[in-house]
Amino acid sequence: MSAAVQPLPEINPLQDYLRFDRHVPPCAVVIFGASGDLSKRKLLPSLYRLFYERRISPNFAVVGSSRTPMSDEQFREKMKESVAKFLEDAPFDEDVWRSFAQSLYYVAGDLNNPASYDDIHQKLEEIEKTHETAGNVLFYLSTQPSHYAEAIQELGEHDLTHGNGWRRVIIEKPFGHDLASARKLNEEIHKVFDESEIYRIDHYLGKETVQNILAFRFGNGIFEPLWNRRYIDHVQITAAESIGVEGRGGYYQEAGALRDMIQNHLSQVMATVAMEPPTVFDAANVRDERAKLLRAVRVMKHDEVPKYAVAGQYGPAKVGGQDLLGFRQEPSVDPEAQTDTYAAVTFFIDNWRWADIPFYIRTGKRMPKRVTDIAIQFGAPPLGLFKQETKTGLREARPNVLVLRIQPEEGISLRFLSKSPGSGMRLRPVSMDFNYGSSFGERSPTAYETLLMDAMAGDATLYTRQDMVDASWQIVQPILDVWGSTKFDFPNYPSGTWGPKASDEMLARQGHVWRVP
Ligand code: BG6
Repeated sequence: MSAAVQPLPEINPLQDYLRFDRHVPPCAVVIFGASGDLSKRKLLPSLYRLFYERRISPNFAVVGSSRTPMSDEQFREKMKESVAKFLEDAPFDEDVWRSFAQSLYYVAGDLNNPASYDDIHQKLEEIEKTHETAGNVLFYLSTQPSHYAEAIQELGEHDLTHGNGWRRVIIEKPFGHDLASARKLNEEIHKVFDESEIYRIDHYLGKETVQNILAFRFGNGIFEPLWNRRYIDHVQITAAESIGVEGRGGYYQEAGALRDMIQNHLSQVMATVAMEPPTVFDAANVRDERAKLLRAVRVMKHDEVPKYAVAGQYGPAKVGGQDLLGFRQEPSVDPEAQTDTYAAVTFFIDNWRWADIPFYIRTGKRMPKRVTDIAIQFGAPPLGLFKQETKTGLREARPNVLVLRIQPEEGISLRFLSKSPGSGMRLRPVSMDFNYGSSFGERSPTAYETLLMDAMAGDATLYTRQDMVDASWQIVQPILDVWGSTKFDFPNYPSGTWGPKASDEMLARQGHVWRVP
């Protein structure tokens, strides 16, 4: 077997130098579930891209593993197709691919079969020599979540958790199905790996714009003094998707929107928006603050759930001349399914900074468009001195909104009132905009690129820790309990709309309305 690495094509040396801002050691990445969707769409394209930009060590190799029998060559061919197809905003380069592909290997095997782990062990020993990976190994669990505990136990039993270098494991979401199963899974993993070796991935934390919330808040002096209950009236976090369940009906039916998005991604976003400044920007301090914030979120009582949480499910509709299926008509979905494809929750954070300020979070499939943003709604000025021109002619009580756009068109905008040209003091809302694309003029790394590189570099700042996962399950658990025993009158919103009426009513009770993003 030859591991001679072909020289890479020339790229701008200055750019190359700038990108090398951290040391990423040699390592092998073992992907369990290598023929799955995540591996094809995200993991391999991200690794290729990191290799292309020379942001990881040339002494690296990937061992893909799944049940499908394949040779190394077949795996390389299959991954080539996927990488070329799913590279986001980035060119595919044949020469770089040839060089990258020499580091790809495949071991067919079943997670339940102990012999598969012996094969992986042997492959890793070979690779350590041929690719000089220094015995460092990053395992990536991207299989059916029900196999996580067993796979980790087998890694321990086959002595794959120790070697000449470090061993780390990345665990994909969902981390547990509820609070009890997440705790159990943590216990099982801790029998084999130390917490410092466990990287629980939440790809929202790797998004540039989510990281930018920290830069915006703590790198500037002017926002933080306003960032509290005295000046902020409420916060809205929206993650809307125009797509439906896209062939994932089986998984989604068991998960639902609350588990799929709010328990993990959006509660982490809320923690990022609301946490206290860390004293030092490192993994321990940033994660301490996130965890502290999540622990301060009020856990609802069961009888409060109907007031503070709304479930929805999309029904069929004709949108833009196209007939869209309702959730219950999707493949692999039970025609009576009680699954939430939309969830909206009001959270309160019981600390000095945020007491009594509602944080409204909503997410849904088959909404009118794909948009994820955070709207910080500031309070009203104490006196209404001026007449205002608005679309509706109504006076806007609270004209100032700061919107942090996570996707698409990443950016930040601040809305405020300005004098309209002409005589008289008539005011009109205007906005001050920052747009990521036009300000930086370069492609941002995808969340998976950032997170994979961080795990190789041993930086867990953007990964979740046991206490964070525990706290975020605690805040959704009462809702899961109540919804689990409720018979909903679904579907309750047509595809292509902003969700059920009950969600608007939830905000109206507090004197608020959902922003149209
Ligand atoms: C995943 C969910 O974690 O996040 C999906 O399982 C969802 O249902 C996806 O579509 C959204 O991620 P993004 O990065 O496209 O906003």
